[in-house]
Amino acid sequence: VSSYKNILIESNGKVGLITLNRPKALNALSSELFHEINDALEKYQNDPEIGAIVITGSDRAFAAGADIKEMQDKTFAEVYKSNFLGHWGKINEIRKPIIAAVNGFALGGGCELAMSCDIVYAGVKATFGQPEIKLGVIPGAGGTQRLTRAIGKSKAMEIVLSGRNFTAEEAERWGIVSKVLPVDKVLEEAINLAQQIASLSQPVVQAGKESVNNGTSFELSLKEGCHFERRLFQGTFALRDQKEGMKAFIEKREPKWTNE
Ligand code: CAA
Repeated sequence: VSSYKNILIESNGKVGLITLNRPKALNALSSELFHEINDALEKYQNDPEIGAIVITGSDRAFAAGADIKEMQDKTFAEVYKSNFLGHWGKINEIRKPIIAAVNGFALGGGCELAMSCDIVYAGVKATFGQPEIKLGVIPGAGGTQRLTRAIGKSKAMEIVLSGRNFTAEEAERWGIVSKVLPVDKVLEEAINLAQQIASLSQPVVQAGKESVNNGTSFELSLKEGCHFERRLFQGTFALRDQKEGMKAFIEKREPKWTNE
């Protein structure tokens, strides 16, 4: 029995499963939830029996983003001093392969979490997007970096600057998602793939992962790019428009931008 409040963990042979479980908030990634993900990842990383990890949500939501209610009133000083979202980088240090099984919403931080995984399987109805711009902020967990590396500048700009969502089919066509599956097959197939990978040599699998990751950067390294992005994301908390954007979301109304 685990002491987690926002996730469920279960190991199945050599596969460690993490299920995001904050249904009332569509699995919004609060700091507490993300610390639990990190803790579970660390446990699986240190468990010699585990060869691969699967992260999933519910049919309705993989994750609807970072927790807007938690962020709404934060000041620039607070987010900068605490290096807010810095702990989201932990997943990138995990050496074992991580597969995301995505159904429903994968928005903002949810999309970024999926893109931080090594392989993404998605259900036909999954919805991806980086809607941060509509909240008066920019993506802060690698969205501008991983999306651009995955789909190129023009498409990434369209997604990040308009905040429009994209479908599982688009995500597959663009290479973000490796397979689109019926909703009820996504987790099963992700676990099957994880089992196949986990049956191979762990150090060789880790070497494959490390090598693929080393080949994906251009201009700034991904780490530098994510650092730069996180600083700019934190900087948006100095704007009145960030307060207004998040307040409007919670009050279920259109934001009134003042460009300040
Ligand atoms: N943070 C906190 N709460 C959230 C949330 C989030 N990201 N997303 C949804 N919720 C909450 C809603 O506030 C609502 O709570 P109440 O019942 O208390 O009102 C509950 O989950 C259900 O949501 P909706 O009523 O909005 O459900 P819907 O089906 O009408 O809409 C949705 C679903 C389109 C996903 C909509 O909830 C939505 O737009 N969510 C926000 C998506 C978003 O902007 N994500 C980016 C966050 S910023 C970020 O992630 C920064 C970063 O880069 C790390």
